[in-house]
Amino acid sequence: SILLRSVLKRGSASAIRSFSSESTPARKVAVLGAAGGIGQPLALLMKLNPLVSSLSLYDIMGTPGVAADVSHINTRAVVAGFMQEEQLGEALKGADVVIIPAGVPRKPGMTRDDLFNINAGIVKGLCTAIAKYCPEAIVNMISNPVNSTVPIAAEVFKKAGTYNEKKLFGVTTLDVVRAKTFYAGKAKVPVEGVNVPVVGGHAGITILPLFSQATPATNALGADDIKALTKRTQDGGTEVVEAKAGKGSATLSMAYAGAVFADACLKGLNGVPDIVECSFVQSTVISGLPFFASKVRLGKNGVEEVLGLGPLSDFEKEGLEALKPELKSSIEKGIKFATES
Ligand code: NAI
Repeated sequence: SILLRSVLKRGSASAIRSFSSESTPARKVAVLGAAGGIGQPLALLMKLNPLVSSLSLYDIMGTPGVAADVSHINTRAVVAGFMQEEQLGEALKGADVVIIPAGVPRKPGMTRDDLFNINAGIVKGLCTAIAKYCPEAIVNMISNPVNSTVPIAAEVFKKAGTYNEKKLFGVTTLDVVRAKTFYAGKAKVPVEGVNVPVVGGHAGITILPLFSQATPATNALGADDIKALTKRTQDGGTEVVEAKAGKGSATLSMAYAGAVFADACLKGLNGVPDIVECSFVQSTVISGLPFFASKVRLGKNGVEEVLGLGPLSDFEKEGLEALKPELKSSIEKGIKFATES
């Protein structure tokens, strides 16, 4: 039809336009909380990513300095800093991917849920602005407790009429990064080639690494080793919180993980095939859990496919049963906050 032809023509024209001046399409990435412990190294890593053409750095304080600093790096992305709420709209307009590491981190003795009271409100405010200024953007939620902040974001977007479950992601990549590192160390295999899916959620026992599916497979690890690796992956965040002794939680490894996940989202948007990462998304993988982390195939629309769990060991099956009540209650807590406040 004429309509179809004109759509195709327009599509190819815009593709040519974006490919003509640059080797890859123009993509705007916004970081909210960009002056924080995660935000700063994440801004650096996104500035180094050749897929980013525009990097928007927003925080309630300190962004001019971070933006000026990062902007001097001679890479493709044009950097702009935004501060205070009146500039949030400008920061978000036209964003393809919004990464949210805004909010307070843990101190020793705290659980991620202890952050709920402060971070829930911050996330709600930021997502309200996203619904208004860039409703089509992919959202990468880093702010904890992720098990609750992702459901909060979903409710805010639903209320605004902009919710697209394919575009909301809880970032659990750091759990995968840790599982890979710890597995490689124990199994004595080169870490570069290691893959370990991590499913469930992003707090304590809800973090369930599937070492039975780790590649390369090894016979070198016994049941006790797997148990210890699982516990270390679940407690990885606390290991850093304790080592930092009151100065916050993981920031550098989290920035790396956040950059890996955002890069995967951008590749998906750009049509690169076979981009699979674990993420906490709206899901039907486990009945009764409307959000769940598992492998997800990323594409031009965000989530192309939520992948199933694959075969689990008995130890992993037990872990899955054990995490369900906590994950369910964290999800419900987020939904309740967003619908009642
Ligand atoms: P931080 O305190 O160093 O930085 C947070 C930044 O957010 C600050 O610059 C602050 O000014 C900013 N901020 C506060 N309210 C804001 C608002 N309304 N709008 C924009 N910016 C705002 O904290 P850090 O270490 O960077 O951690 C940030 C969050 O990431 C925490 O909630 C932490 O628990 C979480 N986190 C998540 C991980 C994950 O695996 N998903 C891993 C590690 C941390």
